[in-house]
Amino acid sequence: MASWGNLQPLSTELYTLLQYGLFLVLFFFLPFLGVIIGGSTVSLLLSFLGKEKRDPAYLRFSKEMMETVMTGKSALFMFGLVPVLLVWFIYARIFFDATPLPWHFWSAVLAVLVAGFALLHVYRSAWRRPPSPSPFHVMSGAAGLLALFFAFFLFSQGYGVLFNPEKLSLLREHIRFFLSWNAVVKYLLFLAVFFGMTGGGILLLGGRSAEGKEAPDASYRGLVRDIGAKLTFLATLVLPVFVLLDLVTLPEIALSATVFATAAIVLLLSLAVCLILSLPSGKKEGGPGARIATLYVLIFLAVLVHDHAAVGNAYQDRIASLNMQAKAVEAEHAKEAPREEPAAGGKTAAETGKAVFETNCAGCHQFDIRVVGPPLNEVVPKYAGDVEKLKGFIRNPVKVNPDLPSMPNLGLPEEEIDAVARYLIGRVKPGGSP
Ligand code: HEC
Repeated sequence: MASWGNLQPLSTELYTLLQYGLFLVLFFFLPFLGVIIGGSTVSLLLSFLGKEKRDPAYLRFSKEMMETVMTGKSALFMFGLVPVLLVWFIYARIFFDATPLPWHFWSAVLAVLVAGFALLHVYRSAWRRPPSPSPFHVMSGAAGLLALFFAFFLFSQGYGVLFNPEKLSLLREHIRFFLSWNAVVKYLLFLAVFFGMTGGGILLLGGRSAEGKEAPDASYRGLVRDIGAKLTFLATLVLPVFVLLDLVTLPEIALSATVFATAAIVLLLSLAVCLILSLPSGKKEGGPGARIATLYVLIFLAVLVHDHAAVGNAYQDRIASLNMQAKAVEAEHAKEAPREEPAAGGKTAAETGKAVFETNCAGCHQFDIRVVGPPLNEVVPKYAGDVEKLKGFIRNPVKVNPDLPSMPNLGLPEEEIDAVARYLIGRVKPGGSP
């Protein structure tokens, strides 16, 4: 990915396009992965319970579950792996100058996904040989499921980075900034949606045999309905908790009226699902399956729109600034004028200062435009050439402008603080222009 760092900055239109691209990819990828995770969990639990209770109905449903959710290899490739590559590409374009997620990260996600799919495939194929899978096959199914849970956890953490552009420059230095509470909440939120969707799907198909050969008997259908209803109900009970936690953990700059409104819609839809499930269903019209499944499609859409809006807010400033950067780059190319280095302070010191600036500050600061932090041409003159005062701020940033987020303490070593402060004072003259 390092080689992609030289790409030209994007225009606003391309950014918007990338965001819609991401929306579309997630729209296919998440339900696909979600139903595999949900279905495999149910199948493994049932195969375990079925052996415990010696009930063939459990085993039969466990088998049907696997046959429904684990589709052929080409579908796994198309909907389970290709989307990750697309997201990788979209991220590389969005973060082209920050490289927060190296190729190792995406390769790890892919490798764990492939391992998970392969192990689940082994488990699924065991059902073809009656009566039921051996402990070895169940183990491989469980391992495959764990792998998928883990791969999706990694994926969610990467996804979480999108909502928090302030972290980008920190991320380059310290991998611990990769983890965020918001991303953990999103992981759990999506899992709740996955299980709710799976439950809705079970209610919808209602124990109709996958092959459609034998007419399922009433007690089997009853069992399937019961499992579907319980799963959906539990998932829908916890979902609102994660929706609220998501609002709490999202950084301030990602919030907007749309973000709140979509969260409210998810809450209302969850309430509707719970109501439908707790009302006694009219036996004749085939149960609540279709309504629940539709509601879950809407819930999923609302969650995606919610995230899409939040990412849009988080990137508004960045997009605007990149757009201006693109114009500046063009203008500079047109002029072809060699830039004068500031003479003051000796060549090497100025170069160290510049290097410290590029690695630690440039992610949030430009000289002439606002990125995350204010344009330095506006704030550095306040220090009137006082290097010590500026060093004091960098060493220990305090809240200055209520309209901006606070600057984090970067924990730089003293020499680097000194070098970067001198560089800034040298470059931005007290008069104002650089
Ligand atoms: C994560 C983003 C981020 C990084 C990285 C960052 N800053 Fe800031 N910086 C900010 C924000 C946000 C503010 C506005 C803070 C405020 O007004 O309370 C700010 C404000 C400032 C100010 C103005 C202070 C004032 O008195 O108004 C200076 C000077 C500054 N930063 C220098 C630096 C330097 C030098 C570095 C690198 C060593 C750096 N910043 C790295 C986000 C960042």
